[in-house]
Amino acid sequence: MSKALDGVRILDFTHVQSGPTCTQLLAWLGADVIKVERPGEGDATRAQLRDVADADSLYFTMLNHNKRSLTLDTKDPIGKEVLETLIRYCDVLVENFAPGALDRMGFTWQRINELNPRMIVASVKGFGPGPYEDCKVYENVAQCAGGAASTTGFDDGPPMVTGAQIGDSGTGLHLALGIVAALYQRNSTGHGQKVLAPMQDAVLNLCRVKLRDQQRLERTGTMHEYPQYPDGKFGEAVPRAGNASGGGQPGSILKCKGWETDPNAYIYFITQGAVWPAVCKVIGEEGWITDEAFKTPAARLLHLKPIFARIEQWTMTKTKFEAMDILNKYDIPCGPILSMKEIAQEPSLRETGTIVEVDHPTRGKYLTVGNPIKLSDSPTEVTRSPLLGEHTEEVLAQLGYNAEQVALMRAKKVI
Ligand code: COA
Repeated sequence: MSKALDGVRILDFTHVQSGPTCTQLLAWLGADVIKVERPGEGDATRAQLRDVADADSLYFTMLNHNKRSLTLDTKDPIGKEVLETLIRYCDVLVENFAPGALDRMGFTWQRINELNPRMIVASVKGFGPGPYEDCKVYENVAQCAGGAASTTGFDDGPPMVTGAQIGDSGTGLHLALGIVAALYQRNSTGHGQKVLAPMQDAVLNLCRVKLRDQQRLERTGTMHEYPQYPDGKFGEAVPRAGNASGGGQPGSILKCKGWETDPNAYIYFITQGAVWPAVCKVIGEEGWITDEAFKTPAARLLHLKPIFARIEQWTMTKTKFEAMDILNKYDIPCGPILSMKEIAQEPSLRETGTIVEVDHPTRGKYLTVGNPIKLSDSPTEVTRSPLLGEHTEEVLAQLGYNAEQVALMRAKKVI
């Protein structure tokens, strides 16, 4: 079956997590992704957080599926020539070097545009234009600068970063969308363009509801769905809201049976207005259906703490899965807190290809997250990440280099 991005060639100059996330998605959608790596060492993540001696780390393998690897010293004059050929050959160059690195290499936007006016040049940077544009940035810096850390955690604790890699993988996802949009626009304009996804901006986009709340707070001085209401005080900036829902339907994380020993025996429980009578029946508080203090969503906002405490008395008598089964019969929105161990074993995620087992020549079998985006006419088959330089000869032959030229490059350590 054909793939959505069949025929699209990506010059993948990415490393670590943000850029590789983007190019892995494009590869899953069918693009030919040629990852250019420094001879001898390659992407630094190949050797980071290793769990198997001398094998590419899971950090690397899980972010570089379905790609080809070409080693090339792009600071060497011969390497630069090969890079020029690659720029003419490919449709998109994706990079997430530190600011200015591509220019220092001699490949400014103008130069790339001269070599291939149709080329799209897509970049992840920590910050967009402004005071921090020259800074190097990693995941947690972006979470802090993009508003996630100040709005995550509990009111009486410090700012907190989340486990979801919204700075790196979140930005990679944004960049991938920018690239496919630029490819689409190229169909009518005939020329490429620059695509920039700054990590601060991508995190902020994902924290959009918190900027909403900042403005609500400034206008009204309070936010009724936050745990600070009605007893605590609000300051000038959106506070951390613990596990409150963040939307118009109050929610909380509640203990379930076994919580004393299992750190994940919890459920997320949402008291959606439409199912309030069902909630009352399930927990045995039918009087709350008509009680003025609990009857309407507005009245309940004054009593969220005692309401959730009472619901928790009920959830503590059930495992998170038992509670899930019972609550779903009444359409009460809820979700078990799943550990990574439980997710790894979840059969439905295996069946849909979201959790995939991959075989690798030096590390053996491992689990990875497959493509979460499902296209009915462009199914994803996850294939293992390439070894360093595994496709160097193959790619150079495709670019028109003969065996003698390749041997010379190897002798000069350009590849
Ligand atoms: N051949 C020759 N040189 C190469 C090369 C190749 N194939 N590939 C990379 N290099 C060079 C670069 O040109 C650069 O050289 P320079 O510093 O002389 O200009 C050098 O390798 C290092 O690149 P850099 O990006 O600065 O790596 P770093 O390890 O110092 O920094 C980051 C890593 C992630 C902090 C930085 O790349 C960054 O801020 N990127 C943008 C934001 C980002 O994506 N962050 C999230 C990462 S998950």
